[in-house]
Amino acid sequence: MSTPKIEIDRVGQTFRVRSQETGREQDFVALDNVSTTVRAGEFLTIVGPSGCGKSTLLDLISGLTTPTSGEVRINGRRVEGPGTDRGVVFQQYALLPWRTALGNVEFALESATDLGRKERRARARDYLQLVGLEGFENRRPGELSGGMKQRVAIARSLACEPEVLLMDEPFGALDAQTRESLQEELLQIWRRTRTTIVFITHGIDEAVYLGQRVAVMSAHPGRIREELAIPFSAESDDDDVRATAEFAHYRHQIWTLLRHDQQAAADRAEEAAHV
Ligand SMILES: Nc1ncnc2c1ncn2[C@@H]1O[C@H](COP(=O)(O)OP(=O)(O)OP(=O)(O)O)[C@@H](O)[C@H]1O
Ligand SMILES: [Mg+2]
Repeated sequence: MSTPKIEIDRVGQTFRVRSQETGREQDFVALDNVSTTVRAGEFLTIVGPSGCGKSTLLDLISGLTTPTSGEVRINGRRVEGPGTDRGVVFQQYALLPWRTALGNVEFALESATDLGRKERRARARDYLQLVGLEGFENRRPGELSGGMKQRVAIARSLACEPEVLLMDEPFGALDAQTRESLQEELLQIWRRTRTTIVFITHGIDEAVYLGQRVAVMSAHPGRIREELAIPFSAESDDDDVRATAEFAHYRHQIWTLLRHDQQAAADRAEEAAHV
């Protein structure tokens, strides 16, 4: 078997936090013994409740932080910091406000590639076109809608042609309709480019719609509770896949897992309150 693109190998992340009650510093386990692998070209979605450690996990893959225990490997090599092999799209657009859409993409290419000015411009145009922003290249972020800004952010990451695209709730701030159309576009782009994608979301529907595989996380401590292969997955061209019984089946399965964890967490909290 070939080396997986991403290996998350028994990763733990503990933060030092100050207790609200005692004022003393204590350890907070954000991630506990998390392991999974992602194949080249695979689309993995990670779903879980707020605070379960999704962003913490993505930061570790991106190399922004290093784990307290275990390690993350890309192409078999240990991640020790950020690299141009990985592109990240965050929930907030993080665009340069004084640069146009084109300028934002070109700027990323300046640091991530050794392309000349002309090539950068041509590539930036291509990727803005790919995300449906032809005709808006010269607008600044303040002159774009939320969905358009997020398209620029996606174009910016894709233009660097990373091997791995890491997305942290990139559509979280958008209205439902814009979100659905960007989900479809992202799938189309993925089908064309076959970039390995790790996509984090709160949304069960979003996780099932996009993922070939869904990792369901639980909180306190953050763990991967279960992974589900989605058989109809991102291969399907059926627009109305969300309306199928199969889709409902997976949605329900994940909902049940999350719900069960929520209940367990509430029970633990109640127990703790009685000791
Ligand atoms: N730098 C830090 N120092 C201390 N605690 C942290 C730090 N970063 C994250 N945490 C804690 O770790 C836990 C996981 O945080 P994380 O941001 O990964 O959650 P998340 O699953 O991305 O949540 P959300 O869905 O709300 O974005 C949270 O309880 C958070 O308070
Ligand atoms: Mg987060």
